[in-house]
Amino acid sequence: MAEPEQLVVEAERQAGAAATLDELSAVRTAMTGKRSPLVAARKALGALEPDARKQAGQALNAAKAAIDGILSTREAELSAAARAERLAAERLDLTEVTEQPASGHLHVITQTWQELEDVFAGMGYRVAEGPEIESEWYNFGALNFPLGHPARDMYDTLYVDYGEPGSTLLRTHTSPVQARVMENQAPPVYVVAPGRCFRQDTADATHMPVFHQIEGLVVDRDTSLGDLAGTIEAFTAAYFGPGFTSRLRPSYFPFTEPSAEFDIQRPDGTWLELGGCGMVHPNVLEACGIDPERWQGFAFGFGIDRLALIRFGIDDLRELWTNDLRFLRQF
Ligand code: PHE
Repeated sequence: MAEPEQLVVEAERQAGAAATLDELSAVRTAMTGKRSPLVAARKALGALEPDARKQAGQALNAAKAAIDGILSTREAELSAAARAERLAAERLDLTEVTEQPASGHLHVITQTWQELEDVFAGMGYRVAEGPEIESEWYNFGALNFPLGHPARDMYDTLYVDYGEPGSTLLRTHTSPVQARVMENQAPPVYVVAPGRCFRQDTADATHMPVFHQIEGLVVDRDTSLGDLAGTIEAFTAAYFGPGFTSRLRPSYFPFTEPSAEFDIQRPDGTWLELGGCGMVHPNVLEACGIDPERWQGFAFGFGIDRLALIRFGIDDLRELWTNDLRFLRQF
């Protein structure tokens, strides 16, 4: 008859070898079932002397308890493994992306702004910027608008409640950046300055109180009106492509002399007013510390929003601000 300790060792071995719950169940039957050596040993107890029976009975009980413990530990291990295997099989791989997630894109104005910077960078211009909240001096004074000059009234200015009344404003155009650049940089100067501008305007199809302009400024020796016209023509062709041309019409700005408006002609023959330009006024050069006897310059400024309108055939500026995705997704 097997010794109880040997039965425990055997149970340990077989339970460890069982690879599945089914196999373990067979081990359980073999080790503790009706026909197991354990049960046979227990039946044989009756033939022993009382003392020996008591001792052998205790040893068998201890062996039975040890074997039960071994079996239930192994059972817990195997069911945990089975569960892990089932979970692995049922697992959803959420990292697997079959479709591109929807992502946004740059607003049509931002695209236009960046494209304009690219076109001028390609023509050798640097990009400059200035503040949106500006002083009266840079927006008007340095640009040859004397105090009380009627031209100031053309600009429907929004003033900011800061400092002396009338001293601080939301810039009405990007031209103050001209003055800031000339103050800080010795000529030759080739810069463009795109940015946000503000005027007290009622929103309609072609006007918004907040809009964007891009300013151009060149200061060099022997710069002429011909250079200005050629630059605008070169820009028109580069940005709009063949079939578009430009023209200058005499106009007035305090900071340029002579001054012009410039229009571009679409392939269908129609003209569209785009912006203003001219030769930098000697007073402006002087106000910014540049000697007008030695240097000349030209400047131009036009609306980025209007440009996008022409380029993409949008018929109402307000569409750019309503953030209707059906509109924005077209660009
Ligand atoms: N700043 C002018 C405007 O907003 C446009 C302009 C720029 C005109 C540069 C001449 C030279 O109306």
